Amino acid sequence: MKQQTPVATLLREQATRGQIKILDAAISEAESRRTPIYIVGGAVRDLLSGGFAGDLDLVTEGDGVKIARGIAANLGARFSAHKRFGTATVSLGDSYVDFASARQESYSAPAVLPSVGPGTLEQDLARRDFSVNAMAVSLWPNQGTELIDPFNGRSDLDSNTLEVLHPKSFIDDPTRILRAIRLESKSALRLSSQAVDLVRDALQQGVFDLLSGDRLRSEIEQLFDTPSDIRAIVTRLAELYLLPTLSPTLAFTSTQMEWFERLAMARTALDSMNFETKPPTWWLIYLFVLTSTLEHAERVGLARRLSIQSEQAEFLATGPEKFYKLESELGTPDLPPHRVDEILRESKPEEVVLLLASGNFAVRNWVTKWQQELRSVALAISGEDLLAEGFEPGPWIGRALDAVRNARLDGNIETEAELEFALDHLASRSDRN
Ligand code: CTP
Repeated sequence: MKQQTPVATLLREQATRGQIKILDAAISEAESRRTPIYIVGGAVRDLLSGGFAGDLDLVTEGDGVKIARGIAANLGARFSAHKRFGTATVSLGDSYVDFASARQESYSAPAVLPSVGPGTLEQDLARRDFSVNAMAVSLWPNQGTELIDPFNGRSDLDSNTLEVLHPKSFIDDPTRILRAIRLESKSALRLSSQAVDLVRDALQQGVFDLLSGDRLRSEIEQLFDTPSDIRAIVTRLAELYLLPTLSPTLAFTSTQMEWFERLAMARTALDSMNFETKPPTWWLIYLFVLTSTLEHAERVGLARRLSIQSEQAEFLATGPEKFYKLESELGTPDLPPHRVDEILRESKPEEVVLLLASGNFAVRNWVTKWQQELRSVALAISGEDLLAEGFEPGPWIGRALDAVRNARLDGNIETEAELEFALDHLASRSDRN
């Protein structure tokens, strides 16, 4: 059989220089405190499957936060503790490593956060979601380099199988169902057929209804905030009957599929454009499309169910109606470019992306033209030039500049004519003082 490269070696090959510094400091600190220290979870899974993305979790059988604080002080690294979870992060430049103390968990009721206490590594692995995430490797050099794999994670990883550790796993923590879909979407892993049955059992027991809005939203955000194919994710949500758990009549139809297809093209186009305004919130865009076929009251209900706040809730609730209005105005024949600029400047980044994915070719064209040309049209003159001509300061100066910009956008004047146009505008208006 082919010899496997030990995880600790893979880690040193793939971690950043900053992470290796933190790692070395952590190992000597843990050794001097006689505290066993391990690399665990997603990092082990990803190192073994060749997809290490840089997130590194260490677990100590002892106070992990204390060790993290100690080495951050020695290295002059940044330290932040997350008290609620008993975890800490040490960062050097862009590199970071997460620390936690091994813990055991018990669930007093379905879908609530567990009670947590100190535990051994074995207990820490046993509280995890999937066997592929329940592997560890000791970082003490004299401890050997074998994989600690009490749930056959290695063999599940080799067969690309997501297997839970016990039958009540999804009842204890229904967010694991959404985590499974996220893992499926970014790797070759697939839920085993027994695990799919357990998903069905958990749904039949209504576990999602017991989950807090914040936890459900946070998981949906992570699931939808993905560069992976949203179509595959929503298809899987539908296959596993998860959509009605979000809202009773929610379904995946060809309308949403077409939207997602156009959004995929818009996303590629945007990557090649320079989207200088606030970056769009992708999970919200995808949720918007998914829920756009629902009645208004259902959209309001879902935003509430997911504890989505203020502007984002309003976007979901009133978005489709507003969107169709914007789309129809942008689709009006002979629309002057300055009006396009006004509409798109006042729109949210998410609305601009949705318009770029409109089913109407003319609308898509306008958004592209706005992104590439219109929005960056700058004037050669400023308010100072108008004041220098003897005009009093006041709102009319801004209005004159707006009129000049509109004339430039509409192609009515060239740069050289800006000053003359502004002066004519001010001279012809009675509101200038
Ligand atoms: N975990 C869990 N149940 C959850 C959340 C997390 O068992 N509901 C465990 C998993 O073992 C996971 C580890 O905690 O590997 C760390 O969680 P996280 O960083 O969210 O996941 P990773 O697998 O490390 O990374 P990702 O999912 O982003 O690939």
